[in-house]
Amino acid sequence: MLLLLLVLLAVLFPGASSCSASQRPTSFYIIQITSFANSTWTRYRGSGWLDDLQIHGWNSDTGTAIFLKPWSKGNFSDAEITDLVELFRVYDFSFIREMQAHVSEFQLEYPFEIQGIAGCELHSGGAILSFLRGALGGQDFVSFRNSSCVPAPEGGSRAQLVCTLLRPYGDIFQIVEKLLYETCPRYLLGVLEAGKADLQRQVKPKAWLSSGSSPGPGRLLLVCHVSGFYPKPMWVMWMRGEQEQQDTQRGDFLPNADGTWYLQATLDVAAGEAAGLACRVKHSSLGGQDLILYWGRSISIVVIILAVIVLCLIISSGLVLWFLRRW
Ligand SMILES: *[C@@H]1O[C@H](CO)[C@@H](O)[C@H](O)[C@H]1NC(C)=O
Ligand SMILES: *[C@@H]1O[C@H](CO)[C@@H](O)[C@H](O)[C@H]1NC(C)=O
Ligand SMILES: *[C@@H]1O[C@H](CO)[C@@H](O)[C@H](O)[C@H]1NC(C)=O
Repeated sequence: MLLLLLVLLAVLFPGASSCSASQRPTSFYIIQITSFANSTWTRYRGSGWLDDLQIHGWNSDTGTAIFLKPWSKGNFSDAEITDLVELFRVYDFSFIREMQAHVSEFQLEYPFEIQGIAGCELHSGGAILSFLRGALGGQDFVSFRNSSCVPAPEGGSRAQLVCTLLRPYGDIFQIVEKLLYETCPRYLLGVLEAGKADLQRQVKPKAWLSSGSSPGPGRLLLVCHVSGFYPKPMWVMWMRGEQEQQDTQRGDFLPNADGTWYLQATLDVAAGEAAGLACRVKHSSLGGQDLILYWGRSISIVVIILAVIVLCLIISSGLVLWFLRRW
């Protein structure tokens, strides 16, 4: 009866112990990183992202876009994509040329790096907000708000100067505005729909344990590896029974080549206290059936199997000896 009840509960409340509802991507943005080593050497890198999933690359030698997913074009026609790629090609070229021409005017010194991010984000209720920000050497520099260039406080007088110098280029602002407020929201909705099957897939994690390099004499570093899961939200914790071990250290989410994620959770314990600890993994793909890996259990199973094999060997060799003697 109890077993039946448990099974029933597990079926009725599959999400009860699993982590929050799997998160869908909600933003599309383009990242631009341009490195200026000296007056003749520059490198331009561009990429397109849905949250933390890269779906576009950019070949700056040929000025062509690389579509990393079969659905990277969203619902845009080939003609519209061609126009956009052409626009970015011209932008890529002009941006570098203009920066090189105005290095002293913008009070810049080689080497320097400019980073830009531009895109739009879907908010609950359906509103889509657009953004464009530029950074210099990793610090906020300028942003684009309400049709104008806004200097960031971190950018100081140099950012104010750059915004002043850009003011006359009204036609460029109009193009940017159209891309941000018209093209981006339309593309975002289309690409979320086109990539739905891929974006909403559930891939189960694989988990295993190992010991890391010892943190000190008499101490053990228990490492719980979780890999190959999608989507990204993941809960992993070292436990003693039902007790969460608050000293669990979670690493960064690392991407696997196939678009799934890797995460590890470590726990520093006294060597004598490792027995009875377990690593618990909750993920939306597991349907409430948490993965639980016990520290040392796999080792004890190996030891038991070995002991059984040795025992069998001893008994059978004893039997053989006994037969030989009788014969
Ligand atoms: C410019 O920088 C590149 C890359 O660091 C270097 O190979 C090249 O020699 C530099 N050229 C000049 C003129 O300094
Ligand atoms: C944006 O500009 C419009 C008109 O140019 C103005 O009415 C509005 O207050 C501005 N909004 C912000 C947040 O500056
Ligand atoms: C793509 O999908 C969006 C959102 O559903 C829609 O507004 C747009 O008209 C569609 N087509 C194109 C070519 O953008």
